[in-house]
Amino acid sequence: LTHLLSIEGLPRAVINHVLDTAASYAPLADHDVKKVPLLHGKSVFNLFFENSTRTRTTFEIAAKRLSADVYNLNINASSASKGESLLDTINNLSAMQADLFVVRHASSGAPHLIAQHVAPHIHVINAGDGRHAHPTQGLLDMYTIRHYKQDFTKLTVAIVGDVLHSRVARSDIHALTTLGVPEVRVIAPLTLLPAGMESLGVKVFTDMAEGLKGVDVIIMLRLQNERMRGALLPSAQEYFKHYGLTQDKLALAAPDAIVMHPGPMNRGVEIDSSVADGKQAVILNQVTFGIAVRMAVMSIVAGA
Ligand code: CP
Repeated sequence: LTHLLSIEGLPRAVINHVLDTAASYAPLADHDVKKVPLLHGKSVFNLFFENSTRTRTTFEIAAKRLSADVYNLNINASSASKGESLLDTINNLSAMQADLFVVRHASSGAPHLIAQHVAPHIHVINAGDGRHAHPTQGLLDMYTIRHYKQDFTKLTVAIVGDVLHSRVARSDIHALTTLGVPEVRVIAPLTLLPAGMESLGVKVFTDMAEGLKGVDVIIMLRLQNERMRGALLPSAQEYFKHYGLTQDKLALAAPDAIVMHPGPMNRGVEIDSSVADGKQAVILNQVTFGIAVRMAVMSIVAGA
């Protein structure tokens, strides 16, 4: 791998290699913090043109644990705010001897554009582009599912909520189907479902009670109000009534089902606090696993 831009098209063996490599770093992601010198002397630039808490911070922690030098460009204080183009920004940072760009951008395809443009020794990792893809979130979600459920080929997984605007849903669907999950369900109101979901190999449900029956894994999605641009917005109360994960709805899933959410959560909109903080939730574990997974991805694309 030279870049990580999307999970779509990644072979199963490559995904498993990332997960296995992450497992070898996992003890480093606990409290026993040790550095490894794999990226010693390399310069990692975090370019977050959209806000982030989890992804930006865990990339920084991961890069530092690999002994890289990390630079977080403050986009609001950068010359991008004066109108400098994306590629001019990249050219200038490349002239500062960048080795790896971690890019989040509101425009789908921005990391691909950068990857086509940079010199061959520079690597690009997509940290979320528009509605398109969030591959490291998809990989850390797979790591989490494998950690709790071991065998992908015996699972029913439900992805619930604002699928239309979700780059996480797309990355998770590609990863789950590639890893051999026999039943991937998406549950959403028709207004938040993109056309042609079935062609991705998923079963579509608009009734949450129906869709949650017997599932082993529930991945809740954030209602992405900032991407709706005048679309039919459900009221928070209405949405919560039909698609919010409550204890009552969770009881329809398998008794040992795990509850995931990429964050940030809208409590009381897509998930009730009693579920988000309950014993079946693995949401904060996802964040911790994200460090090891991002170490794995960076070491695979940019390591010796
Ligand atoms: N899951 C996720 O991408 O969270 P952030 O937006 O905080 O990075």
